[in-house]
Amino acid sequence: MDKKLWGGRFTEKTARSVEEFTSSISFDYRLYHYDIQGSIAHCKMLEKQKIIPADEAEKIIQALMEIEKEIEQSEFRFSEELEDIHMHIENRLLEKLGTIGGKLHTARSRNDQITLDIRLYLRAEIDALGDLMDTLLKNLLTVAENNIHSIMPGFTHLRHAQPILLSHHLMAYCQMFLRDRERLQDARKRVNVMPLGSGALAGTSFPVDRDYVSRLLDFPAVSENSLDTVSDRDFIIEFLSAAAIAMMHLSRMSEDLILWSSTEFDYADLPDSFCTGSSMMPQKKNPDVLELIRGKTGRVYGNLLSLLTTMKGLPLSYNRDLQEDKEPLFDSVDTLKGALKVMGELIPQLHFKLENMKASAAKDFSTATDLTDYLVRKGLPFRQAHETVGMLVRYCLDKGKSFPEISLEEYREISSLFQEDVFTVITLENSINSRKAKGGTAREEVERAIRAVRSRMENTKGSR
Ligand code: ARG
Repeated sequence: MDKKLWGGRFTEKTARSVEEFTSSISFDYRLYHYDIQGSIAHCKMLEKQKIIPADEAEKIIQALMEIEKEIEQSEFRFSEELEDIHMHIENRLLEKLGTIGGKLHTARSRNDQITLDIRLYLRAEIDALGDLMDTLLKNLLTVAENNIHSIMPGFTHLRHAQPILLSHHLMAYCQMFLRDRERLQDARKRVNVMPLGSGALAGTSFPVDRDYVSRLLDFPAVSENSLDTVSDRDFIIEFLSAAAIAMMHLSRMSEDLILWSSTEFDYADLPDSFCTGSSMMPQKKNPDVLELIRGKTGRVYGNLLSLLTTMKGLPLSYNRDLQEDKEPLFDSVDTLKGALKVMGELIPQLHFKLENMKASAAKDFSTATDLTDYLVRKGLPFRQAHETVGMLVRYCLDKGKSFPEISLEEYREISSLFQEDVFTVITLENSINSRKAKGGTAREEVERAIRAVRSRMENTKGSR
């Protein structure tokens, strides 16, 4: 390939180092399907508007479909000299059709073409990610339902705080993932805008029908300003942000599961099929999958920062810097997909050690707040009740006893408001089931929350 498709005004050959440095084909090849889909729609529009003759449009479309097959069957030759995916496909079209192939790019620039390709790609990937999130959510809901009677300690500061239901803990993640899913759906609206017709930056002088192209490609709207269209990437940044947040949630969940499956916690066993061994220590079973979800979160954050930084100083409109949008985008899509997939598969295979969880929940005076609330109900102002139970805890610590192990007399030495019913107040079940206020850990409330999430998922189904 001696002559570039844009080579008319050049007298010197592009330096080899420049070709290597500027080429994007090593990563943007993966847009080929969307590039061809967009080109076919563009070509149909050129034909309908009589910008190119029907027989030539037919030939172009036919050749584009053949090119797609060649790529899929690995019969297509990629080369750095041809820069990017658009040039590769157009060059092959010229090889196949000669001068007719040269008509496809009428009323189009690579600047509006690339943003179309990315929009088509990202729209499809958001849908695929939504499906993976659905699977994860469904699996989490099932495990939450199965553990509606399982008790565990709830933590603040990674210290025992109050007893909760395991299902309440799992439902906390459901809420996060549900918001992640909605965030993606929302970002999709701003991805789903048709850019073709913006040309290089100022629009086109040909009588194009942008609405027709939109209909062909299933876009509900066309972009409004050609400069904005070729030069903004906020729809990618929004996606990268939503992806970073989702990874953050997956990472926190990974961290919980890493802790729970440690010998120190001993709340859960991870399936062997999701762990790996040590090359030196024969006894090891390491939670690498979860560690990698946590670890890969860093690069997904980095991808967001990377594109924000690329964009911040760019004068309108298109600048080649924008080519740097793709690697962070592809990496975040791949990483989030991978993480959602493994987490979705892992959840149903977790084995919870319910006895250990429950025994652990009873430790560390986790019902102290219940005792405080008890005294409040008996008429003591909250602050005084807090102080009194604090003294009771101090007393227990000194005696090496837990709440159920001290006698009513001992309770009454601290406060005469304590009566026989204090012993039901300090049970784990009572503590949990008393927290009936909306959003709390009481069983009936968690059941309601599970139903609410199920119906929210039903309602948003097919809202693409
Ligand atoms: N590979 C380019 C990109 O990713 C396509 C657009 C090129 N446009 C240009 N004027 N050089 O942005």
